[in-house]
Amino acid sequence: MNQLNGIDYGTPKSKSENLITLEIDGVEITVPQGTSVMRAAAEVGINVPKLCATDSLEAFGSCRLCLVEIEGRRGYPASCTTPAEAGMKIKTQTPKLADIRRGVMELYISDHPLDCLTCPTNGNCELQDMAGVVGLRDVRYGYDGENHLKLEKDESNPYFTYDASKCIVCNRCVRACEETQGTFALTIDGRGFASRVSASQNEDFIESECVSCGACVDACPTATLTEKTVIMMGQGEHSKVTTCAYCGVGCSFKAEMKGNEVVRMVPNPDGKANQGHACVKGRFAWGYATHKDRMLKPMIRSKITDPWKEVSWEEAINYTASEFKRIQAKYGKDSIGGLVSSRCTNEEGYLVQKLVRAAFGNNNVDTCARVCHSPTGYGLKVTLGESAGTQTFESVMKSDVIVVIGANPANAHPVFASQMKRRIRQGAKLIVVDPRTTEMVKSPHVQADYHLKLMPGTNVAIVNALAYVILTEKLHKPAFIAERCEVDSFKEWEHFICQEENSPEAVEKISGVPAEEIRAAARMYANAKNGAIYYGLGVTEHAQGSTTVIGIANLAMATGNIGREGVGVNPLRGQNNVQGSCDMGSFPHELPGYRHVSDSTTRAEFEAAWNCVLDPEPGLRIPNMFDAAMDGTFMGLYCQGEDIVQSDPDTQHVTGALEKMECIVVQDIFLNETAKYAHVFLPGSSFLEKDGTFTNAERRISRVRKVMPPKAGKGDWEVTCMLSNALGYPMSYKHPREIMDEIASLTPTFTGVSFKRIDELGGSIQWPCNDAAPEGTPTMHIGEFVRGKGKFIDTKYFGAGEKVTKKYPLILTTGRILSQYNVGAQTRRTHNNMWHSEDRLEIHPQDALDRGIKQNDWVGIQSRAGETVLRADITENIQPGVVYTTFHFPESGANVITTSSSDWATNCPEYKVTAVQIMPVSQPSEWQRTYNRFNTQQESFATDQMIPKESAVAK
Ligand code: SF4
Ligand code: SF4
Ligand code: SF4
Ligand code: FES
Repeated sequence: MNQLNGIDYGTPKSKSENLITLEIDGVEITVPQGTSVMRAAAEVGINVPKLCATDSLEAFGSCRLCLVEIEGRRGYPASCTTPAEAGMKIKTQTPKLADIRRGVMELYISDHPLDCLTCPTNGNCELQDMAGVVGLRDVRYGYDGENHLKLEKDESNPYFTYDASKCIVCNRCVRACEETQGTFALTIDGRGFASRVSASQNEDFIESECVSCGACVDACPTATLTEKTVIMMGQGEHSKVTTCAYCGVGCSFKAEMKGNEVVRMVPNPDGKANQGHACVKGRFAWGYATHKDRMLKPMIRSKITDPWKEVSWEEAINYTASEFKRIQAKYGKDSIGGLVSSRCTNEEGYLVQKLVRAAFGNNNVDTCARVCHSPTGYGLKVTLGESAGTQTFESVMKSDVIVVIGANPANAHPVFASQMKRRIRQGAKLIVVDPRTTEMVKSPHVQADYHLKLMPGTNVAIVNALAYVILTEKLHKPAFIAERCEVDSFKEWEHFICQEENSPEAVEKISGVPAEEIRAAARMYANAKNGAIYYGLGVTEHAQGSTTVIGIANLAMATGNIGREGVGVNPLRGQNNVQGSCDMGSFPHELPGYRHVSDSTTRAEFEAAWNCVLDPEPGLRIPNMFDAAMDGTFMGLYCQGEDIVQSDPDTQHVTGALEKMECIVVQDIFLNETAKYAHVFLPGSSFLEKDGTFTNAERRISRVRKVMPPKAGKGDWEVTCMLSNALGYPMSYKHPREIMDEIASLTPTFTGVSFKRIDELGGSIQWPCNDAAPEGTPTMHIGEFVRGKGKFIDTKYFGAGEKVTKKYPLILTTGRILSQYNVGAQTRRTHNNMWHSEDRLEIHPQDALDRGIKQNDWVGIQSRAGETVLRADITENIQPGVVYTTFHFPESGANVITTSSSDWATNCPEYKVTAVQIMPVSQPSEWQRTYNRFNTQQESFATDQMIPKESAVAK
């Protein structure tokens, strides 16, 4: 039950603007038309008893507890399903109603275990509450009749229990799975007395289609569906609202606590990004934060072949400072740098880039956005003027045509996917551009109108062909273009696009997508009242990633689909704070707020505030750092909350570069793959252990709140301050709120942001937030683009950097799966492994047959960069000529295969296109054998140091 402290109005809010007035129990009340009688009553504090109704779901009307009397009407209508009407006079409390309600409750209780005192939800159970509310004193039917009390529990899901004996068949879970989550995994099986909730075809939850989002658990009014942590630990005694530390949706949660231990994470109904929904990761997979693998002591060593030595914080920091000073004295000022984490808070990211620029004295700072959405930053800045998505998530509810390009939100941004599917079920059209048949293409009650199943690496060609159809068929919006865009740039682009090479017929030969489908999809998007484009890493992680982003912006401008709700260009950003880390100045060429370091006015502002001299030259990007390390000119790295060894392409190049460096400092909660190459390990703090903010894919800045003290004693921001002080550049912040105040004072788009303001505005603000937009900016580019006029830019298709050849005839593309997250460091340390315990290689049946590969066989994958071995998953989700894998497990070595080919503008790696050959094999690759030996050795070096000082629970 998800209404622990809030008010449940019983039915959803009506969005009507027409108001009506009625009278309930003598109280006059005015509500929007379409409001239920139950909700109207609740608005004035009259709580009609209810069981099957809850305000997150449409009314169902099955329990008959909420009956009321309406003057002039016969019978006793259910208040949850009866719309309020003007002039109605309603009574919610009469002797007759009390009788009926007691009778209903007697029926329920006669078939319910009488174990309230030992029930895990005792005190937080709506059935118990209603028994009290209706004044139940006796059960006339007795307890000995036919009942369900002996039904067995389904304990198969690792996170929640289904105790059928407690089910009142209210249908809330079924509706939550349909309406909120959109998975349709539950039904009510059987009829009458025999009816029970059933997962899929009467399967255990774990075997069913359930994706463990928890919506049914939140909706259940009894202890039937209950979190195992609540069963084990009891209910929380206090709570704090914070933000999920997984993906870029940025769901808000109430962390329910017992002392310093989390009991459960409850999705916050007031959370503007998630509106009370969640996915398996944020809702349940938080046990990693107290996992026994947490590293809690600073450690140092002079060589990576040495065991670690546990030291005090002071010794670790002083050692780091002296090593960095020594390296800079020997190799020069530019020989060290730092990496900002997109997992950490804005405040922490800001401090790391400040440390690099002010204390290291160079601009060698970068972040993982380099390897995911740097093309978004570039492409949207040059066309629209701002490096960020244009809409709120809620905006999708006003879209008529939704285009999803190179994104699989059902896996990577699940809560937003649920919202998008809801809109599609309401009738919005859907176009998916993806080499794979993802859940967005076909899932219960969702079917893409067009699936442009292109060959990886041909995005630009497809986007150009869509534009070709729009322009040659005159489907563009000349008035919008004339008013809002640089007309000359449009004319030039129009001339470029209308060349024959961009026609659907020409592009069909390149992409494999039938020309007629391209034409039809283009017409559908261009003719939409509101057409919105959502895209992901399948767009950006290409040699022409920036070109595709520009092409998408061109499409939106040409069709006038920008600058209002329901439209826009919407990058689905990967990590929780990747938008924020970019905003905070984590790229080597930009200070906070995307201002170039070469701009002397901007620099002067920061120099005055920071009391330092800033380097006007952009620093090294991550791949340049590796190259410089190989050349012997980049020898020291401060890496906060990133695992570049696992996440960056061409692993052997990365590890080769790290082996050359003389001081690598890793700050993380686990001994990650990069830490195995480090000389200093600084224990990190989890999101539960610090205050700050994350910024999600909608530019929404949300509070992260400390719910427990840092297990290693310090928040990450405190450690950065210590290092800076040791290097001789003072940082003396007392609390992250002071850091945000400094960010606001130096960043025009953040001037109105502070922790206080975020609280005042209900927990989050979308930037820009300043004098011009004191409440933030949900939709960007209204009336005018940030750059003034929108700029069209030509997008010539060159194809992937990686080419298939006789030796490497297949294209490997990579992606994510719902239950695991990124490098898996967090999710692999949770029960989410039950859904996905290894990375597999998806192969089309024909490609498998050609090579004699069968389901589950070990398959060797060779590319120009390296070789690894995975088990085969033969599926028609993938097209012939393409293979696919995830990259959540280090031993898989997915990035041993990926090459250093990268985006022309930003160096974002071309993860999505690697030419490979595959063959059946019987043993791990050479790289895997070496990895296993190295890993065993490194773990043994740390084992003595990493014994946790408290019992850790993997929940
Ligand atoms: S956990 Fe989510 S997906 Fe699974 S049955 Fe419940 S609502 Fe449906
Ligand atoms: S499991 Fe819970 S929500 Fe579902 S029908 Fe039973 S009591 Fe209602
Ligand atoms: S992982 Fe993403 S979708 Fe899931 S709960 Fe966290 S923020 Fe929400
Ligand atoms: S709450 Fe209205 S019928 Fe159940």
